[in-house]
Amino acid sequence: MLFSLLLLQASAAFAWDTFTVPHLPGEDDTPGLLALVSNHASNATIMFNKGVTYNIFIAIKFPVLTNVEIRIEGNLTYPTNITAIQDVVGSSSFPGSWFTFSGGDNVTLRGSTDPHWGWVDAHGQAWWDAVQQTNRPHGWAFNKITNGVIRDMKLWKPIGWNFATSDSVDVHIYNNRIMAVSDSSSFPFNTDGFSAGGTNLLFENNVVYNGDDCLTVGSGAFNITWRNGYCEGGHGLSIGSLGEGGAVANVQNVLIESTIMQSCLYAARFKSWTGGNGIARNITWKDITFLNVPFPIYVTQNYWDQEDGPPPNVSSTLNNTHIADFLFDGFTGVIRDTPFVEGSCVTDPCWYYVANATGREVVILDLYPGTATDVLAKDIVARTETGREVDVMCNATAISTDVGFKCWDGPFIRTKAGL
Ligand SMILES: *[C@@H]1O[C@H](CO)[C@@H](O)[C@H](O)[C@H]1NC(C)=O
Ligand SMILES: *[C@@H]1O[C@H](CO)[C@@H](O)[C@H](O)[C@H]1NC(C)=O
Ligand SMILES: *[C@@H]1O[C@H](CO)[C@@H](O)[C@H](O)[C@H]1NC(C)=O
Ligand SMILES: *[C@@H]1O[C@H](CO)[C@@H](O)[C@H](O)[C@H]1NC(C)=O
Ligand SMILES: *[C@@H]1O[C@H](CO)[C@@H](O)[C@H](O)[C@H]1NC(C)=O
Ligand SMILES: *[C@@H]1O[C@H](CO)[C@@H](O)[C@H](O)[C@H]1NC(C)=O
Ligand SMILES: *[C@@H]1O[C@H](CO)[C@@H](O)[C@H](O)[C@H]1NC(C)=O
Ligand SMILES: *[C@@H]1O[C@H](CO)[C@@H](O)[C@H](O)[C@H]1NC(C)=O
Ligand SMILES: *[C@@H]1O[C@H](CO)[C@@H](O)[C@H](O)[C@H]1NC(C)=O
Ligand SMILES: *[C@@H]1O[C@H](CO)[C@@H](O)[C@H](O)[C@H]1NC(C)=O
Repeated sequence: MLFSLLLLQASAAFAWDTFTVPHLPGEDDTPGLLALVSNHASNATIMFNKGVTYNIFIAIKFPVLTNVEIRIEGNLTYPTNITAIQDVVGSSSFPGSWFTFSGGDNVTLRGSTDPHWGWVDAHGQAWWDAVQQTNRPHGWAFNKITNGVIRDMKLWKPIGWNFATSDSVDVHIYNNRIMAVSDSSSFPFNTDGFSAGGTNLLFENNVVYNGDDCLTVGSGAFNITWRNGYCEGGHGLSIGSLGEGGAVANVQNVLIESTIMQSCLYAARFKSWTGGNGIARNITWKDITFLNVPFPIYVTQNYWDQEDGPPPNVSSTLNNTHIADFLFDGFTGVIRDTPFVEGSCVTDPCWYYVANATGREVVILDLYPGTATDVLAKDIVARTETGREVDVMCNATAISTDVGFKCWDGPFIRTKAGL
């Protein structure tokens, strides 16, 4: 009798409980949320109920969590007041993102599969229309988590970058949807989809409509897989930018596959700054479909930000981020070769302008001598919208191996390695 009572108590102590986030109409729900999650930072589900729109009026930093699921079945709303958000972002206590996780084990961030609920609405349209770029909050920082899950999340009109996993290990990120789509002619600047940092990250079945990188893999990233994705309107499946301000980069073992790139500026993209250092190694983009994309494959070791004025003159004393074992395998699609001005272009020429390009290049390899080895593009099947020839640009003196096509500035001519 006593024994079974003890057992009952023991199992009760370790029981998994669900706690609902309190909501007060018109009020900020973050104090209630923070109190709840601080009291139940382990073995718990923290539930945002369906049928409720929660007010997330200030940025929130979660405590270190163990065995916790954050479940978003209701809607979440940022303030509609731009100045109110800028005040929070500009304050010294701003944790870095509107939702910041920093540390924890077995943490799940889970949205809703109900199409009408589970949306996180940042009201970005007003920011885009005002071209308001001061103190824009990033969305979700999932930092220093081991054994994490981000699934079924749905972000509506974000203001800035969306998800970032910095220094996290073993995270599965799937079935998420980002809708940074403007209803007007304004552009959703810097709405990067997924920023991959950490080790052993698996991204699957994510859908991103946005105005910047769909995926961006940063320095320190190891063993990253992205597959079965759909990206529309943004700036591609990117490694980098790396090496800004002489930074030493290290990115290894990345596989990006089976993804559709619709009306993006780039499909596969690598970018490092002149004067950086370090290495990006063993990076594969495989089975990529591109539609209405002006630059399907674009590698530059000479990346530059349009806001920073003219790029430096290349000098042989500068280091560069090395690239090795890059494979572009199985690219099929249509190059956008009709005139266009992409929405992020605010200078003349545009930041993505390539001197002497024909606008029909399926591959551009903008490489420095002696810093790129084993770059190969194979099984590339491309045509242009206008039916004209497909071209390439490639710095022949910079690379000694067969890149899969004739390395020159001219028509695309496949070589043996490219078959
Ligand atoms: C959480 O549950 C585990 C068993 O799954 C148990 O070992 C641990 O003590 C629990 N933690 C707390 C704070 O109750
Ligand atoms: C990890 O969290 C999930 C819920 O998200 C839970 O079902 C599972 O039991 C947890 N694992 C451990 C080892 O506690
Ligand atoms: C917006 O927020 C600012 C700063 O908090 C405040 O001064 C202003 O009154 C708010 N505007 C409205 C319409 O609520
Ligand atoms: C939840 O938010 C989304 C995005 O703002 C909106 O489209 C949807 O109508 C909201 N759901 C309900 C039930 O209000
Ligand atoms: C990367 O993955 C490989 C193979 O799955 C594994 O052996 C290696 O330990 C992983 N690297 C890290 C840093 O976890
Ligand atoms: C290259 O990366 C892939 C993952 O994309 C991994 O499976 C493979 O082991 C890596 N190769 C080397 C030589 O590290
Ligand atoms: C680069 O060199 C050109 C010609 O030598 C010079 O006019 C220009 O000012 C230099 N740019 C920078 C950023 O040093
Ligand atoms: C290039 O890198 C080497 C070693 O990593 C370093 O000693 C040198 O100062 C770097 N050069 C520049 C211009 O940063
Ligand atoms: C563009 O082509 C012209 C003529 O071939 C050449 O003089 C010039 O150096 C090229 N510019 C660049 C940036 O490659
Ligand atoms: C590669 O060659 C092109 C001309 O074809 C040139 O404009 C570009 O600066 C070169 N890239 C690098 C990184 O030197």
